[in-house]
Amino acid sequence: EATGKGSYEHFMLKEIHEQPDAIGNTIRGRLNHQLDSTRLGGLNMTPHDMAKINRIVIAGCGSSMHAGWVGEYYFEEIARIPTEVEQAAEFRYRNPIITPDTLVLPISQSGETADTLAAVREATNKGATVAAICNVVGSTIAREAGRGVYLHAGPEISVASTKGFTCQVTALLMLAVMFGRNRHLGREQGAELLKEIASIPDLIRQVLKQAPVIERIAAKYVKADNFFYIGRGYLYPTALEGALKLKEISYVHAEGYHAAELKHGSIALLEENVPVVAMANAVPGQDKMIGNIRECLARHAPVIAVVSGDDHTADELADDIIRVPMSSRYVAPLTTIVALQLFAYYFAKFRGCPIDQPRNLAKSVTVE
Ligand code: G6P
Repeated sequence: EATGKGSYEHFMLKEIHEQPDAIGNTIRGRLNHQLDSTRLGGLNMTPHDMAKINRIVIAGCGSSMHAGWVGEYYFEEIARIPTEVEQAAEFRYRNPIITPDTLVLPISQSGETADTLAAVREATNKGATVAAICNVVGSTIAREAGRGVYLHAGPEISVASTKGFTCQVTALLMLAVMFGRNRHLGREQGAELLKEIASIPDLIRQVLKQAPVIERIAAKYVKADNFFYIGRGYLYPTALEGALKLKEISYVHAEGYHAAELKHGSIALLEENVPVVAMANAVPGQDKMIGNIRECLARHAPVIAVVSGDDHTADELADDIIRVPMSSRYVAPLTTIVALQLFAYYFAKFRGCPIDQPRNLAKSVTVE
């Protein structure tokens, strides 16, 4: 049943486990194998309209902003369109540079976040092409944008976003493929990306099977009051989102950091009571990550490494290992965040926190 908890103790856990199906719904009917591209009809843009876009600005808050940062990497690498992400509240106060050839993509699970709505209005007034990525059908942002991509993730009840985030990232990947195929991206690369997109639900199912391992690791660190989450490339926004999950539901301080930035100050905070969750997946930049893990170990910080498949590069270094399936860099943020959601969930549960109703937080922030 869509609106009850079913056999799950919390909505958050239910929604974590719903992700393979939710992402399946985001993808369904949108892979165009004839053109080796994706088909996002709600965008309502002709190939000519799409070719004119020379810049993308993504606006969102919280987890939706983090999804946007993954999207920035997708759009620049796959579609070669200069892209930037704005915290939605900043957007209208800095007189943004907008032309009709700028595509503004507000991202909002609820479609009601006040700052994101204000960004939609500002972008529309300035003559941008605006397309919203929302989950809630008929929400204010979806209606005002008038075009966009619905996630079809089903209702998200848990205050901490899980399936909303992964479906947003999937939608952004599909958008990047569509824009890419409309420009420089070859058929073969398009076909390869479609295959990867289609494989996401199954890869996430494999991560969910790791829940007992992740639960044990969360139990081991239950006394820690400070965490760092570090990543690079596509896994940098993933580190930010993983840290946010922990803060939201467990009230424990967690800093998401770029792994290379750590040594420019914050490394001073590392000691034996400060675990570091390191994204050590087998993707470009892994060698540098291994170096960063060594820097953390030298400060006696315990390291929990997320690694890929049967890659054993980090085995000897890390105190604990969370294995997600081997995948390309494009899909790694999705598999990895599911592991981090489970970690945050079990950690908060062991600390006795009210997971579905975290203090001071609202599912949708409708004031600026
Ligand atoms: C609130 C929620 C977050 C969410 C953010 C943006 O802060 O607690 O989980 O990411 O709003 O919400 P939206 O509905 O715009 O995606």
